[in-house]
Amino acid sequence: MESIIKSIVVTGASSGIGLSICKLFLKRGYVVFGTVRKKNQSSNLKKLLGDNFFPLVLDVRDKKAISESVLTVKKHLGHNSLTALINNAGIAILGPIEFLDPAVFQRQIETNLIGTLNCTQAFLPLLKAKKNTTRPTNGRIINISSALGGKIGYPFYGAYCSSKHAIEGFSEALRRELTIHKVFVSIIAPGAIQTPIWDKAENDILINKYEGTVYESAYKKMVSDMKKLGANGLQPETVAKKVIQAVETQKPKLRYTFINELSLNLLYFAPRRLLDRLITKYLGLTGKKIEKYFD
Ligand SMILES: NC(=O)c1ccc[n+]([C@@H]2O[C@H](COP(=O)([O-])OP(=O)(O)OC[C@H]3O[C@@H](n4cnc5c(N)ncnc54)[C@H](OP(=O)(O)O)[C@@H]3O)[C@@H](O)[C@H]2O)c1
Repeated sequence: MESIIKSIVVTGASSGIGLSICKLFLKRGYVVFGTVRKKNQSSNLKKLLGDNFFPLVLDVRDKKAISESVLTVKKHLGHNSLTALINNAGIAILGPIEFLDPAVFQRQIETNLIGTLNCTQAFLPLLKAKKNTTRPTNGRIINISSALGGKIGYPFYGAYCSSKHAIEGFSEALRRELTIHKVFVSIIAPGAIQTPIWDKAENDILINKYEGTVYESAYKKMVSDMKKLGANGLQPETVAKKVIQAVETQKPKLRYTFINELSLNLLYFAPRRLLDRLITKYLGLTGKKIEKYFD
């Protein structure tokens, strides 16, 4: 009888949540294909993660590199289909929309949203069950969103929230469309997780970047909150464990979160004007001190 290989493709395997996903799936006996952007990361990761890990060197914005990786994965899988695609690669860009360089905003959307689209389209054929195998199984797609960024627009997270709100709509439409192929799509929506994502964004975030603008103190408060939240966040393994659940359970959830469901629902369904008042008052965006900028 043909042996069945369980396998995943995870984008953004070099650090944080993606790296944890690789480690946990390897422990469970999966063959793991993880994407990195730099050649040297690929050999380092191979050394760290071992024989069942295969690095794919690609940028999720680069369709040609993705197509080449699909061929590599296909060759390894042979008669097997791919168990799951985990669209995890992402960046975080912060700043007031009024001053964000459109090219920077575009990089956010191209990485988090178009990158997910590119990988989904490219790897989908490998997720479809192979009819000529003894135990045909259909694969799953897991898209990494954000518990708050995917549902609530928070000041200065405009670019990031736009990308994650889009991931939520994209995933819901995709789930319904892929019912025809029996490929299930789940969203994993973490809160704050201890990963290097915010350090990598340092150049874009810079606490003093908006000094002298009306946003100065609110922006500083947000960056300082963000740093505290990041430092006290959950470990990336917590997210990786949920990904395993979403891939292996018979009946996966549509959306997995890590924050108490009741508090989340209170936030999601709170009247928007009430949230406006609470958030703008908290950050000092109510306009009371604005006069000094018009002197
Ligand atoms: N950390 C949190 O608090 C948090 C909360 C909610 C959601 N998330 C989401 O979780 C996902 C993983 O983030 P993380 O926190 O684990 O951050 P991370 O450690 O910075 O990991 C991000 C990964 O994505 C890769 N990446 C970035 N741009 C890419 C591109 N254009 N092409 C291919 N790969 C690219 C990075 O590669 P390089 O090493 O080359 O940069 C890295 O491997 C993201 O989608 C993020 O939005 C994170």
